[in-house]
Amino acid sequence: MIIVLVGAPGAGKGTQAGRLVETYGMVHLSSGDLLRDERKRGTDLGKLADSFISTGTLVPDDVVIKMILGKMRELNASDVILDGFPRTVAQAEALDVALAAEGQKIAVVPYIKVEPATLLDRLGGRLTCRADGSHLYNAKYNPPAVAGICDIDGSLLYQRDDDMPDKIKTRLDTYFAQTMPVIEYYRVKGLLREINGEQDIEQVWADLLTAIGKTSESLPSLVG
Ligand code: AP5
Ligand code: MG
Repeated sequence: MIIVLVGAPGAGKGTQAGRLVETYGMVHLSSGDLLRDERKRGTDLGKLADSFISTGTLVPDDVVIKMILGKMRELNASDVILDGFPRTVAQAEALDVALAAEGQKIAVVPYIKVEPATLLDRLGGRLTCRADGSHLYNAKYNPPAVAGICDIDGSLLYQRDDDMPDKIKTRLDTYFAQTMPVIEYYRVKGLLREINGEQDIEQVWADLLTAIGKTSESLPSLVG
């Protein structure tokens, strides 16, 4: 099953994808996490991506398409959540072409819809694990048990450099100009499932499970 999770910066894509990984063992491919990892390792791709990430603009399509499609081929996983990709119509079209060539297609596109004021509030309080960027917290809404420390692996938490107010504004402008058309692209194809992302994390999770056709009965048993 290939799921494309869409929504604005701070909508909760990474948070919900983490739960799908934990609960169903799905593979989470976040273009942002992959690019930040390249940047951390100082690779050529990371150096190129740095100037775009740090200003809140998009890394060029050809670079991101090559990175994600390459990673998908390498992992060859059957259950994948794409998060942060595609972010332009050109990326969405490239993904369709690549999947069709493999006889695959997107199952569903959950759209976590959140208003700009809420996004600003959430991103301002986001804390990310240094060791694993998929471990996410929020000072206000989802704090770690010990301030500044990841509950899962004990690493330090940090504030992403693109979570500063001026960068958030550019990211939101970029999202509305370049990524909203992707949402329409999937709506026209009948794949979009809109979720009210203004709700708390548990309620968004419940609605996400419904959107992807999983029910509480299909949750793996935690007993025994
Ligand atoms: P990326 O890393 O993809 O960032 P983003 O799309 O801006 O999304 P975020 O990670 O900020 O938000 P999220 O929806 O994952 O929210 P989260 O779960 O963390 O991209 C970064 C950069 O990389 C881009 O700007 C670009 O430069 C480049 N890039 C990446 N992909 C690209 C592509 N395809 N093409 C070109 N360039 C690309 O939650 C946010 C906070 O809210 C957390 O603190 C969380 O705890 C909290 N929270 C979550 N849900 C709730 C809730 N329901 N209630 C209260 N708090 C909540
Ligand atoms: Mg994210």
